[in-house]
Amino acid sequence: MGWYPWNEFGQEPQNEKLIKEIVDALVSSGLKEAGYTYMGPDEGICFYRDAGGKLTSNLDRYPSGLRGLGDYIHKKGLKYALYTDAGIRTCSKAMPGTKDHEFEDMAAFAEWRADYVKIDWCNTEGQDTAKTYRKLHDAQHAAGRPIVHSLCSWGEGEPWKWAASVGHLWRTTEDICAPGKADWSRAMKIAAANEKLYEAAGPGHWNDPDMMIVGMDGLSETQNRSFFSLWCMMAAPLMAGNDLRKMTPSTIQVLTNLEAIGINQDPLGIQGRIVRRNGKVEIWAGKRLFDGSQAVLVFNQGAASADVKVAWSDIGLAESEPLYVRNLWTHQTSGPHRGGISARVAPNDVALLRASKTNSFPVPPIIVADSYLVSLRAAGMTAQKLTGAITVKTNGSDELPLWKVRPGLPSWLSVAVRKTGKSQTLTSTASTAGLKNGLYHAVVRADNIEPVSGKPISVLYYDVDLEVMGRAGGRERN
Ligand code: GLA
Repeated sequence: MGWYPWNEFGQEPQNEKLIKEIVDALVSSGLKEAGYTYMGPDEGICFYRDAGGKLTSNLDRYPSGLRGLGDYIHKKGLKYALYTDAGIRTCSKAMPGTKDHEFEDMAAFAEWRADYVKIDWCNTEGQDTAKTYRKLHDAQHAAGRPIVHSLCSWGEGEPWKWAASVGHLWRTTEDICAPGKADWSRAMKIAAANEKLYEAAGPGHWNDPDMMIVGMDGLSETQNRSFFSLWCMMAAPLMAGNDLRKMTPSTIQVLTNLEAIGINQDPLGIQGRIVRRNGKVEIWAGKRLFDGSQAVLVFNQGAASADVKVAWSDIGLAESEPLYVRNLWTHQTSGPHRGGISARVAPNDVALLRASKTNSFPVPPIIVADSYLVSLRAAGMTAQKLTGAITVKTNGSDELPLWKVRPGLPSWLSVAVRKTGKSQTLTSTASTAGLKNGLYHAVVRADNIEPVSGKPISVLYYDVDLEVMGRAGGRERN
């Protein structure tokens, strides 16, 4: 989940000011609390290649440099997304692509502390998709920073067949709109194409039907809700694409509906699919959720309201099964029902439902951190212990087990974890004994493991910077 600028803004006016304003809007609007995390510039003329072949920040547009922008994003408890291209130039040709510079460029992204890199497919004449993206994966791995690898070949090379071992998400189709203008009929074609690929999706490897158009000019409130329901049902990446500074209350309500987000972020990661069509009405199901319940979507693309019966056999259950049904937009539960449930659905509208044997509809973990960066500074001749804490909470229904810090921290750093209900504080302590002047950096990684099954629930990582100064002797970089 996150935000990307392309759908609303295109290349202009992407710059540091815009991105920072969107960061602030993402936090103040409540989107951050709903789980939106990854954000940053798209093809926003972010960097050049210098004469020595190294990527350098475009300081005209990003005066803090790309590392500075990343620090700003991390301090707000968000993750940093950047953009590049697998060919010789990006699509508008305004930025260099990674071809023949894969390893240096992925090292640059790691130095800027990107957590997510979208890699486009323009200007790639003669390149093989699978080989190119595998090389980029190897380069990311060599750069040593955990990074979400977002493939963007618009379905070229059929990445759903091979990209699960190379990246985390792959675009399945053309762009969802031209910048600034939502296009409902194109979005519906994209949803239809993406739906067919449901078997390829799963935890850590997702079909990406493109960034969302919710809240953009050209969509009604009903269409916003229906679009969001489709993306939730398809377990699609929820990258908002609208101007977060100018959202109506209804757009915010759609984008932050935690019950709908809960089915999107469900740990089983199953992509729902169309199980039955009745004229212009589709019934989507096949999406079992972590608590054994099932998500069901009724979508009416017809011109008139439709009365639709969802039979329990549509969702693979016996008609005699008594099920409670939660409406994820009205937030009301009814039942238990036997045999099925009927819904009246207006044109372009949906009924987004969750059916369960029990009258409880838990939301899975929605992880929100106050910061992903700890900056420590030690001055003076004597050894010191410095601490900095970050707090991570879940906005899901249940508390999480204690985060377990992975071994392998440098000797100057230790991390203690304390739990208070749904919040946990990770306190990083740096000890400067024996350290020379210089800058030290570590990435702290922690896992959340479900104690009974031993299965991972979530992972997190954050950066710790330590500056040591005022010691006798020279500077050293670690
Ligand atoms: C392609 C991608 C878009 C966007 C633009 C930038 O069209 O599919 O999402 O990144 O490039 O030029």
